[in-house]
Amino acid sequence: MAQLPPRERLKRDCARAALERIRPALDRQTTVGVGTGSTANHFIDALAEVKSSFGATVASSEDTAARLRGHGIRVLDLGDAERVAVYVDGADEVAPDRSLIKGGGGALTREKIVAAKAERFLCIVDDSKMVARLGAFPLPVEVVPMASRLVAERLAGLGGTPRRREGFVTDNGNPILDIHDLVIDDAAGLEATINDIPGVVTNGIFAIRRPEAVIVASPNGIEIVA
Ligand code: A5P
Repeated sequence: MAQLPPRERLKRDCARAALERIRPALDRQTTVGVGTGSTANHFIDALAEVKSSFGATVASSEDTAARLRGHGIRVLDLGDAERVAVYVDGADEVAPDRSLIKGGGGALTREKIVAAKAERFLCIVDDSKMVARLGAFPLPVEVVPMASRLVAERLAGLGGTPRRREGFVTDNGNPILDIHDLVIDDAAGLEATINDIPGVVTNGIFAIRRPEAVIVASPNGIEIVA
């Protein structure tokens, strides 16, 4: 098999570490929430190797659902899942207090919904995602189409520079505004403030419901931020 590039290896390593961490608690009744993106894809591939040891999954995007089904893993609608024991997903930025920016792949709304339902949230990243403060990565905001201009004006009022993600709509059929130049000191406060703007579906700050643990892979090994 071809060797993975170093960054991909780290993504695979944190994904495998997450599986090892949750594996003892898996049984045929367990539903696992699965995130979206290249790191989550490694988690899906690892999960496929133990697919007889859990019951089902819920997916945070159509891409993730397709990859899970491709491995023969059962995917439930979230509404049909009584419990989601754990949600495992990547991130675009991780602050030391485990607040995150997510949504680089555009799946932020479904990711936030599955994270809200899950009893535990594990974030998996390579060390390039660790930052001292959130905000260098442009903050994704999913909006109802007719509200795009209003939301962009309000976000500019918060000091950001909104740019529409060209040629992209989410799985929910909505556009995304990527907000550059935001200063994010109070991540939970800003998450709530932006979500209060009429027409915002959700924004990519995950601070109000943040992961209980972040599994970070670096060339020195695995570190758990909890
Ligand atoms: C998807 O919308 C995102 O929230 C991803 O979780 C995030 O962008 C991380 O993706 P990678 O693992 O591909 O970097």
